[in-house]
Amino acid sequence: MKTKILPIEDINAQFEYMNLIRAENDGFAMENGFRKGAFVMTFGCQQNEADSEKIAGMAQNMGYEIVDTPEKAYLIVVNTCAIREHAELKALSIIGQYKHIKQKNPNLVIAVCGCMVTQEHRVNDIKFKYPYVDFVFSTAAIHKLPELLFKKVSKGKRLYCNDEEYSVAEGLPIRRESNYRAWVSIMYGCNNFCTYCIVPYVRGRERSRRKEEIIAEVRGLVADGYKDITLLGQNVNSYGKDMGFDYDFADLLDELAEIEGDYILHFMTSHPKDATKKLVDVIAKHKTIAKQFHLPLQSGSDSILKKMNRHYQMDKYLDIVDYMKTKIPDIVITSDIIVGFPGETEEDFEGTLEALRRIRYDMIYSFIYSPRKGTPAAEMPDQVPNNVQSERFNRLLALQNDIAYEINQKHMGQTIRVLCDGPSKNNPEVLCGRTEGNKIVLFNGSVENTGNFVNIKITKCETFALVGEIVD
Ligand code: SAH
Ligand code: SF4
Ligand code: F3S
Repeated sequence: MKTKILPIEDINAQFEYMNLIRAENDGFAMENGFRKGAFVMTFGCQQNEADSEKIAGMAQNMGYEIVDTPEKAYLIVVNTCAIREHAELKALSIIGQYKHIKQKNPNLVIAVCGCMVTQEHRVNDIKFKYPYVDFVFSTAAIHKLPELLFKKVSKGKRLYCNDEEYSVAEGLPIRRESNYRAWVSIMYGCNNFCTYCIVPYVRGRERSRRKEEIIAEVRGLVADGYKDITLLGQNVNSYGKDMGFDYDFADLLDELAEIEGDYILHFMTSHPKDATKKLVDVIAKHKTIAKQFHLPLQSGSDSILKKMNRHYQMDKYLDIVDYMKTKIPDIVITSDIIVGFPGETEEDFEGTLEALRRIRYDMIYSFIYSPRKGTPAAEMPDQVPNNVQSERFNRLLALQNDIAYEINQKHMGQTIRVLCDGPSKNNPEVLCGRTEGNKIVLFNGSVENTGNFVNIKITKCETFALVGEIVD
């Protein structure tokens, strides 16, 4: 299928709706002495965070002031996730709480979008159980927020926009959360249909942005002083395959890394089946590319990998990991692991533990398998009981914590460049930052370092964080 780039007229139409709402909101501000607030609540992955920055960008363009609490809002947009049951329950619970806010402010408009409501049964849940939600729109319809809002406000009827065709929408306003870390989507959707995963059903097929648009965006960010830029896609390794020309992710990364400036590039996520040595070579070649690779393994058992429809086996995975470690000895490798996939035996799980011992990840994100309605794995026999899942999950964490602790000891005494994020959330007395491999570093210093690179001499190495002091 050919990727559809949304015609400029469709984007312009949305800008016209934005202008209409802006005129109305400017009038409100003149009369009342304050601007209507808009609050965006985001669940899920970086893709959703990137979408929410567009939602906030459109809201700001429509004359709203972006506020940090729902109580101050005249517009609330809840951007939902469906990856695990827990994510959906959290979103539904938050939407439930907004009922009281709407009772206090009947002029409040509540919209729900994102992956959860790109599923028919969840649209029905909202329709019937959350009558105070004004409109719902799917992941393909993010750019239609202005139109939906205008129609809702002028006609009063509840709206459900879930039949929009998947496309690539360029030119929407973006209100970035940070002025030194940025997300740049390079592609949308997923073609892989891992049997446990809902993403292909709620994000559509793979669609790449044109490389010119991506390069211009990254150039602009570097010129604006952004220090850390993360290229996003469900599987960045298939970048360009839908475009029908000979230019892949490694080529794109190679070209982006040539941009002059003081910044570092990250990317996520890479599917191991498409991870190439060419890509590793590009990472090794450039100082501006983080020496970090997030390569989700999911399971260390070949038979489970097959049932997951992952299209690689352990030997291929280990081959690329070994190549990375040889080519880039200090590379930080991280992974996602699912515990308790249907049919996972003790032996399969042992395979995962063995993989951790062999690969020695710096960090993993681990998840207990959560059945997703409509995915093949949810219908598979031999679902693993919860108590077995939790027991395995704890063993996995214990092993990984030991490994991470051991690996981190090598940083003792090293001086590492860290991007400072300001006061730590857990202890505002100290500053917090991240290494190029995304490890957390705690240190003392002035808040003025926020958003800048600082050199830190490491004095203590823990499992989840390094501690150190600023050096010149
Ligand atoms: N596209 C990315 C991952 C997106 S989802 C990739 O392929 O790597 C992030 C992680 O959530 C996945 O890597 C997987 O480990 C986990 N995940 C996805 N579906 C899940 C489910 N049904 N239950 C538990 N974990 C799940
Ligand atoms: Fe889900 Fe697999 Fe696609 Fe990742 S590659 S989003 S895990 S289907
Ligand atoms: Fe969740 Fe959708 Fe991302 S399901 S993990 S927000 S792609």
